[in-house]
Amino acid sequence: MRKYDYRAVIFDLDGVLTDTAHYHYLAWKKLAESVGASFDEAFNEQLKGVDRMGSLNLILAASGKDFSDADKLALADQKNLHYQSLIAQLSPADLLPGAAESLQQIRAAGLKTALASVSKNARAVIERLGIAGEFDVVVDAAKIKNSKPDPEIFLTAAAGLGLTADECFGIEDSIAGIRAIKSANMFALGIGSPVVLTGADVVIAGLHQFSLQDYLR
Ligand code: BG6
Ligand code: MG
Repeated sequence: MRKYDYRAVIFDLDGVLTDTAHYHYLAWKKLAESVGASFDEAFNEQLKGVDRMGSLNLILAASGKDFSDADKLALADQKNLHYQSLIAQLSPADLLPGAAESLQQIRAAGLKTALASVSKNARAVIERLGIAGEFDVVVDAAKIKNSKPDPEIFLTAAAGLGLTADECFGIEDSIAGIRAIKSANMFALGIGSPVVLTGADVVIAGLHQFSLQDYLR
C-alpha cells in the first residue's frame, strides 16, 4: 500500500460520517415503489454518491415509463421532502463510530480536512451533527457542475485547501465516489465492503477502524 506525506483528508458525508445513506435509501425506495420501479440494495449501490436528479433518472429509467420534466422535478421534491423528514432529528449522537475521533486525529496531526458531498442537504447535516467547524473546506452540490463519479468535487476540495491531488486522500462509501477519487488521482479509502468497492486502494468496515498512521509515510 502507498504511504505518503499526506497533508489533507477529504471526506464524503453520507454513509461515511453518518448513516444518512440509509435514509437516502429509504426515501428512494418509497419513490421507486410509487412509480412502479423495482428497487433493492444492489440497485441502491449504483445510486450512492450520485446527485438527486441523476439518481432519479436511473430509477425512472428502471420503471420503463416516460416522465415529463415537470413530473421529474415534482418527484425529486417529493423524495427530498421525505428525506428531510428522516434527517430532521439528526444530532451529534448520529455520527458513526469513529467519525469524530478520525476528524480529531487528523487535525491533531496537523493535516487539513475537507468535505466533498454532492448532497444539497450537506450543510444542514453537518450542522446538525455538530461538525460544521471541523472542515477547512466544504464542497457541496452548489460548488460543482459534475456529480461523482466525475473527479471535480475532489479536485475542487484539494484546490480549496491549496494542495495538489497527491497531497490529499479521499474517503468514500460509494462506487461512484471511489471512481471520482481515483479519477482525481488520489488514494481512495473505501468504507464498506471490498466486494462492492473494488476500485478502492484499501477498504475498511467503518471509521472505527481508521488510524491515520496506517496511511502516512
Ligand atoms: C449523496 C448521496 O451524498 O447525495 C446520494 O450518496 C444522494 O444518495 C446525493 O442522492 C444527493 O443528495 P441530496 O440531499 O442533494 O438529494
Ligand atoms: Mg456516501
